[in-house]
Amino acid sequence: MASPGLQLQFSESEMRLLQTLVYQECGMHFDSRRAHFLQDRLQRRLRECQLDSFYSYYRLLISNEGKAELAKLLENLTVNETSFFRNKAQLDLFHKHVLDQLLRHKQEKREFSLRLWSAGCSTGQEPYTMAMLTADALSYHCLRNPSGYELPSPRPLIPPPWRVEILASDISYSVLRAGQEGTYTEAQMASVDYSYRLRHFDKVGERYAVKKALKEMVHFDFHNLKTEYLPQRNDVIFCRNVMMYFDEAEQKRLIEKFSRCLNAGGYLFVGHAESLLGLTDKFTMIYRDTGTAYQQIEVNL
Ligand SMILES: C[S@@+](CC[C@H](N)C(=O)[O-])C[C@H]1O[C@@H](n2cnc3c(N)ncnc32)[C@H](O)[C@@H]1O
Repeated sequence: MASPGLQLQFSESEMRLLQTLVYQECGMHFDSRRAHFLQDRLQRRLRECQLDSFYSYYRLLISNEGKAELAKLLENLTVNETSFFRNKAQLDLFHKHVLDQLLRHKQEKREFSLRLWSAGCSTGQEPYTMAMLTADALSYHCLRNPSGYELPSPRPLIPPPWRVEILASDISYSVLRAGQEGTYTEAQMASVDYSYRLRHFDKVGERYAVKKALKEMVHFDFHNLKTEYLPQRNDVIFCRNVMMYFDEAEQKRLIEKFSRCLNAGGYLFVGHAESLLGLTDKFTMIYRDTGTAYQQIEVNL
């Protein structure tokens, strides 16, 4: 059993073994710049499990009984930094161009549903931001294109016959629980302006709780982006600040999978430090001001 203050040292081959396992399980790549972080988290997990050698821990990770510990380790390795309305220019492109195009296109086809996916959603600020912007875009669209439906009172956030589903997924159960709970501190709300706070949040004690109508637009679920079977038929995928932790081979595989997860001509948003350049010929870049996104190139068979 490990004594509490004991700092174990790991050999290069032990660290390589762990890097390979983590890469195979979730695609995260720990190069020499991030090796220290990996070692630190490994130390913590060994202490938590009260184990005193790398191999006893590794044996646990690859055993059937070790599945929960493997999930915990991966959770400890993720970086969950996020915020509401992150990357304003890109969100303007989403709101004013992409949603506008999608809604008009769907209206023409009389297909009144939208499916959006926040892949790597962390604690929920990204999918709730998507929900607020989509609700805005939809009410503007419906003002210009009245459906003839009598709206119930109070007016629903998503006017019928429209349906909006936002899937928020992550590999970490603790961030999924936080997103599902949907309560945020004053500091986390810093980038949410007052009109959005009033419309979509209730002040509960020191925290802000997402209102029921907005919450109902977002469904939180576990999905590991490393796996082959990912949610299909999406109009838009946000996968921002996730691919930067993968190596190039894994990024290519993920982009290929995203292209299959999108409806024809669907949109992919990646983080401002990420790019699809040189990784695929299935998407074309679109931009407005400094906001960028990628649109799947439709193939006519
Ligand atoms: C830095 S956060 C980004 C959050 C949000 N997309 C944003 O840009 O604000 C990265 C998230 O990706 C998740 N993640 C990392 N690897 C993943 C994988 N293989 N499958 C699903 N989610 C993953 C992490 O758990 C983390 O919550």
